[in-house]
Amino acid sequence: MKALITAGGRGTRLRPITHTQNKHLIPIANKPILRYAIDAVKESGITDIGIVVGVDNGQEVERAFGDGSDLGVRFTYIWQEAPLGLAHVVKISQEFIGDDSFVFYLGDNIVVGGIERFVQSFRDGGLDCYLTLARVRDPERFGVPEFDGTGRVVAVEEKPSVPKSPFAVSGIYIYGPAIFQAVNAIEPSRRGELEISDAHDYLLKHGYKVGHGEITGWWKDTGMPSDLLEANRLVLSKIDERIDGRVDSESDIAGAVVIEEGAEVIASRVRGPAIIGRGARVVDTYVGPYSSIGAGCVLEHCEVEYSILMDRVTVRSVDVRIEGSLLGNDVEICRGAGKPRVQRFVLGEQSRVELM
Ligand code: DAU
Repeated sequence: MKALITAGGRGTRLRPITHTQNKHLIPIANKPILRYAIDAVKESGITDIGIVVGVDNGQEVERAFGDGSDLGVRFTYIWQEAPLGLAHVVKISQEFIGDDSFVFYLGDNIVVGGIERFVQSFRDGGLDCYLTLARVRDPERFGVPEFDGTGRVVAVEEKPSVPKSPFAVSGIYIYGPAIFQAVNAIEPSRRGELEISDAHDYLLKHGYKVGHGEITGWWKDTGMPSDLLEANRLVLSKIDERIDGRVDSESDIAGAVVIEEGAEVIASRVRGPAIIGRGARVVDTYVGPYSSIGAGCVLEHCEVEYSILMDRVTVRSVDVRIEGSLLGNDVEICRGAGKPRVQRFVLGEQSRVELM
């Protein structure tokens, strides 16, 4: 079995962070989003992995992940000329997949608890397609399954205005070769994309064997930066304590806290779940639950909680707690000196600041 993971698309909904970074490289608990897909696939025993990237920003994904040998897997990069839809992604990957069955994993999805049991159900059932479903509050934003009286899925509709069930089809699918018949038969939708839901609907309407299972602990980017904080919470809530860095005797650490190698915590209080990245320096600071502090950050005389600080962020002498925040690489927040007492900003396009 092989795997195909997406890392293309435009990521427009996560600006400004995605102005300078492919969204799949944004860190959640100090690991790029895409790494969760790779780890889940690898844990299920698959090592031959195709990564589909866009021609406009795929290079940085290739630079970050290389050929996969570091992780004990093999990556083949498949270049998509434009984001023409998820069924298009499958279509252009046919040569890589060959006659194998494969896991199709959307790289902006995170599943806590792995995918092995789904792969097993696909194999045991001799299926053509396996869909993972999750109960959601807003099914109209997803592919939505319709069930018959016996609980079988009989249709799938993409982003319907009137959803036929409270479930979403999540971004983890398992296919046999029949999927290629489907993606080659369907037409682009009204938004001009070859929709994966139309391919699933095709399989259902043409008598192929489509199974499904319910998934819990699922997260996907649905458009807002606040979604990233929610993903961070979900992942951090499962971490185990590990202290590889230095904590001085004046500091107080409680709960599941990871302190990476080379990080220093001095005269500070850290309340987990939280992670403090490699080489970070935390001095006279409070780091509260659900915080991810990236590599090389410097936090001095400040308070941070329920936030993601990417790499090399500096926060110095800020007396209001930073909460619910997403700070990009190399961002600096510090107290100004001298008079008049003013707020001074240097912000990139589409940045957002909330002042007390
Ligand atoms: O995550 C689950 C949902 O994913 C499903 O419920 C929907 O049925 C399915 O269509 C998809 O919906 P989204 O609108 O959320 O897909 P999005 O455009 O965000 O793309 C998902 C991933 O695929 C993301 O990693 C970007 C990548 N992508 C997307 C397109 C359209 C590509 O690499 N190429 C593409 O052409």
